[in-house]
Amino acid sequence: MTAPIAPVSPALEDPFVPPYPFRHEKMPPVWKLIGIARKNFLAIWGHADFKGRLRSQKVLAREIVVCNRPDVVREAFQVNHAALQRKSPQMRHALEPLLGDGLFISDTQTWADRRKVVAPIIHGTRVPGFAPIMVETIEEKRSEWTRKGAGAQIDALAEMAHLTAEIICRTIFGRTLGRNYAAEVVEGFSDYQRRIDQVDLMSMIGLPEWLPRYQSRAVRLSVKRIMSVMDEIIDSYAAQKAGGEASVIGGLLEARDDDGQPLSREAIRNEAAVIFMAGHETTANTLAWTWYLLSQSPGVRQKLHAEVDAVLGDRTPDFKDVAKLPYCKAIIEETLRLYPPVPILAREAMEDVQISHKPIAKGSLVMVVPWLMHRNPELWDNADAFIPERFIDPDAKKPNKYGYVPFSIGPRICAGLQFGMTEAILSLAILARHFDLALQPGTDVQPVARLTLRPGDDLPMSLHPRAA
Ligand code: HEM
Repeated sequence: MTAPIAPVSPALEDPFVPPYPFRHEKMPPVWKLIGIARKNFLAIWGHADFKGRLRSQKVLAREIVVCNRPDVVREAFQVNHAALQRKSPQMRHALEPLLGDGLFISDTQTWADRRKVVAPIIHGTRVPGFAPIMVETIEEKRSEWTRKGAGAQIDALAEMAHLTAEIICRTIFGRTLGRNYAAEVVEGFSDYQRRIDQVDLMSMIGLPEWLPRYQSRAVRLSVKRIMSVMDEIIDSYAAQKAGGEASVIGGLLEARDDDGQPLSREAIRNEAAVIFMAGHETTANTLAWTWYLLSQSPGVRQKLHAEVDAVLGDRTPDFKDVAKLPYCKAIIEETLRLYPPVPILAREAMEDVQISHKPIAKGSLVMVVPWLMHRNPELWDNADAFIPERFIDPDAKKPNKYGYVPFSIGPRICAGLQFGMTEAILSLAILARHFDLALQPGTDVQPVARLTLRPGDDLPMSLHPRAA
C-alpha cells in the first residue's frame, strides 16, 4: 500500500501548525501535575508558562526557577555560568554510570580541562574533514532506500537513528572500525538508554537526593559491555593508526593537557561515549521531525525541492555545498525551534545567586526551557506554526541568540553544533533530492519528552522516489 503524497500547490498554503500537548488555562495542583508529567513531561505547562519571564515554584522542597526571556537566559547561563554550570543531580545520576567524569556531566575544573581538549576535536573548523564520512554514509542510506522500492514502508525515526549512529561511529572510530563496530556500539547504547528511560522523569525536577538511586545490575552490565567494546576499538585503532584519516579517537589519543600529559584510557572512553551519546539521538530526532513537518507542508517541500534540484543536480554534494543550501538550513532551524531535541536545560545552583534581582538559593534548580521560549508568542510571530522563512527573511520577528537555544548557550553550548547542523543539512539535501516521504495515513504524531524530545516511539512513513 502506498500513501498518496499531498499535492503540491503553486500557492503557499497556510502554514502547518504541528501538534503540541494540551495547555492548561489554570495550573492543576502539584500532585496532578506529577501524574501528567509521568505520561509526558511537556504536558505540564500552561498558557502562562509560555509567556512568563522568570517563574519559580517549590516542588517537593526544591525551588525550581524557569528563565524564559533572552536577557534572563543570558544572565543565568552566560553571566552566572560559574554558579550555574552544574547539571541537575538527576541528569548526572542518569548518565554517570555511562559517562563517568565525561564532559557532558562534569563541572568546574574537570569540565574546563575536558572542554579544552574535546571541543577542538569536533569544532566547526574540523567539520570539513568529517563531511566526506557524512556524505558517504548518507549515500549508503539513499541506496538502501532505492533498493526498498517505491511505496516501501519505513519507520523514519529508526531510519534516522540508524543513519546518525553510523555517521557518529565512523567519525569517532574512523571509517573501517566505525563500520565494523557500529551495530555493537549502537546496541550497547540503546540497551543503556532503554534502562535509563525507566528513570521517572519526575525525578528530573524534585525527588530528594537521598532516595535510593536506580543503578541496577542490568545498567552496570550494560555499561561494562559498552566499555569493553570501546577498549577493543581503541586497541585496534592504536595498532593500525588508521591511515591518517580524521577521527575523534585519533584526536583524543593525540591530545595533551597543559602539562603535556595524554588523556587516560578511562578519560578517552568517557569522552568517546559523550560524543556518541550527545551527537546521535539529537540529530536523529531533528531529522525525523523534519520529515514529518515536510510531509504536512507541500509548499515548503516545493521550495526545498527547487533548492536541492538546482544546487545538487545529479552531483553528490560536498561540504562546500552546505553554504549554498540556505532553505535546507532554515528548515532544520525551524524544526529545532518547534521540537528542540533537548527541550529542558536544567542546572543546579552551586551557590546562592541572583537572577533578574530574584535571590536564588544554593541547591535550587535553574532551568532554561527551549520548549517554552521557542514558542513564546511575545518573541515569535505565529509561534506554533512551521514557517522556515522566518530564519531567512531579515524582517521576520526573531529574538536575539539567547532566545533561540536548541544547542544551549554560554560556555556549555553544544560542542558539536556545526557538526550537527552540517550533518542534518547534508542528510536532508541528499535524501530529499531523491525521495519524498509521506506519513502513513491515520498516524497520530505527538511530541513525547524522555531524555530527548521525539515524535513518539516510531514514525511510520512511506518512501516515494522523486522523478529524475
Ligand atoms: C541537532 C543536533 C544537536 C543538538 C540539538 C544538540 C544539543 C545540545 C545541547 C542542548 C547541549 C547542552 C545540554 C545541556 O546543557 O544539558 C549539548 C551539549 C553537547 N553536545 Fe550537542 N547537540 C547536537 C549535536 C551534537 C553532535 C553531533 C555532537 C558531537 C559530534 C554534540 C556534542 C555535544 C557535547 C560534547 C556536549 C557537551 C558540551 C559541554 O557540556 O561542554 N552535539 N548539545
